[in-house]
Amino acid sequence: MKNKLLFLGPPGAGKGTQAKIYCNKYGLDHLSTGDLLRDEVSSGSELGLKAAEIMNKGELVSDELVLSIVEGRLLNIEKGWLLDGFPRNIKQANSLKILLEKINQPLEAVISIKVSDDYLIKRLLARGREDDNKEVIINRLKIYREKTAPLIDLYSKEGILKGIDGDSEIDVVFSCIEKALG
Ligand code: AP5
Repeated sequence: MKNKLLFLGPPGAGKGTQAKIYCNKYGLDHLSTGDLLRDEVSSGSELGLKAAEIMNKGELVSDELVLSIVEGRLLNIEKGWLLDGFPRNIKQANSLKILLEKINQPLEAVISIKVSDDYLIKRLLARGREDDNKEVIINRLKIYREKTAPLIDLYSKEGILKGIDGDSEIDVVFSCIEKALG
């Protein structure tokens, strides 16, 4: 089983949901930059306050900040890991590549979860996180298309991308992911 993974997809695609199930089942470390940033926000630190402002608009926080968070975590993992929500643009993808070369742990597979926009918006509105209101969701989708979606092409060219249909029920999507990574 591959154990150096990245789950990619638009907001609401189910990256976090599927990543949690996968990591629990296969004993990997789940590295979600969204969760790590929300922890920073909850701590009330100055960094967290700055990040909250950006996250609540659906924009991306600085590459330097997320990279330092991911680097700190990846350097301390001995077993496998699953990245969720990072990288989010080409610059972050290039930085990740350099970091993974340094620690000699190349990315083994990228799962790209696809879900139709109507379905994404419905799911996020039903969840109701602070950044889950219509205006911010539309901005998050726009940023995803502009900045993150180009990574699909990048990883496809590297031959490590597996596309998954995320419109189905959670356990059905999970089975497809397991099959793709088996
Ligand atoms: P982040 O937390 O990464 O948010 P996101 O990418 O917008 O993803 P979501 O958590 O909304 O969706 P998901 O795909 O994980 O779906 P989930 O499983 O939760 O980032 C938040 C913000 O932090 C960003 O906007 C940015 O500001 C900042 N940030 C984070 N990383 C960054 C980075 N690298 N660089 C710069 N900034 C960064 O599911 C959503 C809902 O749908 C849930 O309620 C779930 O129960 C439900 N659901 C899931 N699957 C199904 C299914 N199959 N059927 C029915 N319902 C389902």
